[in-house]
Amino acid sequence: MQILILHTAQQVEALAARMIADRLKAKPNLVLGCATGRTMEGVYDRLVELASREKLDFGRVTTFNLDEYVGLTADDPQSYHYYMAEKLFSRVNLRPGRTHVPNGMARDLAAEAVSYEERIKAAGGIDLQLLGIGNTGHIGFNEPLSSLSSRTRDLALTPMTQEQNAGMFGDDPSKVPTRALTMGVGTILEAREALLIVTGAHKAQILATAVEGPVTSMVSATALQFHANCCILVDEAAAEKLVGREEYRRTFVHEPTWAPYRDFILSSERNA
Ligand code: GLP
Repeated sequence: MQILILHTAQQVEALAARMIADRLKAKPNLVLGCATGRTMEGVYDRLVELASREKLDFGRVTTFNLDEYVGLTADDPQSYHYYMAEKLFSRVNLRPGRTHVPNGMARDLAAEAVSYEERIKAAGGIDLQLLGIGNTGHIGFNEPLSSLSSRTRDLALTPMTQEQNAGMFGDDPSKVPTRALTMGVGTILEAREALLIVTGAHKAQILATAVEGPVTSMVSATALQFHANCCILVDEAAAEKLVGREEYRRTFVHEPTWAPYRDFILSSERNA
């Protein structure tokens, strides 16, 4: 894992968008794994800006979202289908047939899960998977006790996650769906590259647990320690509880992963 600590959430969002744009330029038929949540909103805003400024072509890009609530229709403003349409799909030239979000309305959720895995495989696997982290330490909606080799499936959400996501449901956790369809931890680990984005002091403890704690199914993000190509972008506030943060800060200049972004990072530091 490579961790990069930037000053602000805005710098993290800008670098994440820059990395996605560069992957797309290098591979026009990129298979992009998308995530949802507040953290991703700024990333998609910056990516849309880059798309217009640099004339990025999403015409051959395929996307797969991590998860969706069970029981919400695609036109429900609280669904992840709706979120993605609003925040990204309608703002770049992505082709509708190439965007995939699990169907939480499927009558047979197990069959939908199998078909989702098949579609990922048929697309050649995910090149770059964007990830956020929930307060329970989930990636996607892989709640505590999710097998670290789990595949796409439906599962129950924890009260903590319902609480965290209540903002989209009138601040009422009881209105948050009780189940979701999510890529499994095993599915996520198969992406060729993973990019975890974590900002804000409220994420500091769970980030430290995920990155520096022992691998456990109680915190599915710890499974990223097994990923051979995982970058983590964090702001100062989220980095606060990382025991090794001074080491991570010092190694960035010598780390080849960040070489293409050195100027970008240094100019962000100067402007902080
Ligand atoms: C939801 C999504 C996760 C995401 C998390 C973080 O629970 N299922 O994939 O990582 O939200 O949300 P936020 O960025 O709003 O903190």
